[in-house]
Amino acid sequence: MQIFLDTADVADIKKYVKWGIIDGVTTNPSLMAKEGKDPKEVIMEITKLVDGPISCEVVAEDAETMFEQAKIVSAWHDNIYAKIPLTAEGIRATKMCTEAGIKTNVTLCFSVNQALLAAKAGATLVSPFVGRVDDVGEEGLDLIADIVDAYNYYGFETKVLAASLRHPQHVRGCMQAGADIITIPPKILDKMVKHPLTDNGLAAFNKDWENCEACQNLYK
Ligand code: G3P
Repeated sequence: MQIFLDTADVADIKKYVKWGIIDGVTTNPSLMAKEGKDPKEVIMEITKLVDGPISCEVVAEDAETMFEQAKIVSAWHDNIYAKIPLTAEGIRATKMCTEAGIKTNVTLCFSVNQALLAAKAGATLVSPFVGRVDDVGEEGLDLIADIVDAYNYYGFETKVLAASLRHPQHVRGCMQAGADIITIPPKILDKMVKHPLTDNGLAAFNKDWENCEACQNLYK
């Protein structure tokens, strides 16, 4: 399973890329607006930090303009995916991108039916939003499992990128559901790596080692 960072915060990306486990980055208009910087500069900076798919969202409502915007962002760098909302116009734009060889991440997906349309349009990635499905009292992780099952059954090549993940339990659920990719806010990585039994175990190992005189020369 690939792990993407869901952020446009370059400082955060720099920090977590050092872990050596980041496969890509997703952004959206809200994340971009939060940074308050020139979006192209932000995206280009990210391309220097991460050698993998980087999603940049189009902001038009009609397919023709979405396609024009997708051409613009995808020309900046080979790793840039045009992120396209899952509307009827977005599906049309996705199909245009597929035919033009532009990689796409079809976003704001909330149902298996929508995911089917994204796959039929040749989307490279589809982004179902787990947390926002939970927000309306349904099971976001079920949506991931259902899309993965349906795509596998029919052999669609579109990859399932689980988005809107809010906590480590979502990450575990996405693994169990077979998501191809998760995109997570960086703070979730801190929560994933931390375990009190690791901290306790390490403290005990270190204490025992310090008390062992015969052990002290091993790494000298
Ligand atoms: O990738 C989509 C994600 O940024 C949305 O997350 O927490 O705003 O639902 P959230």
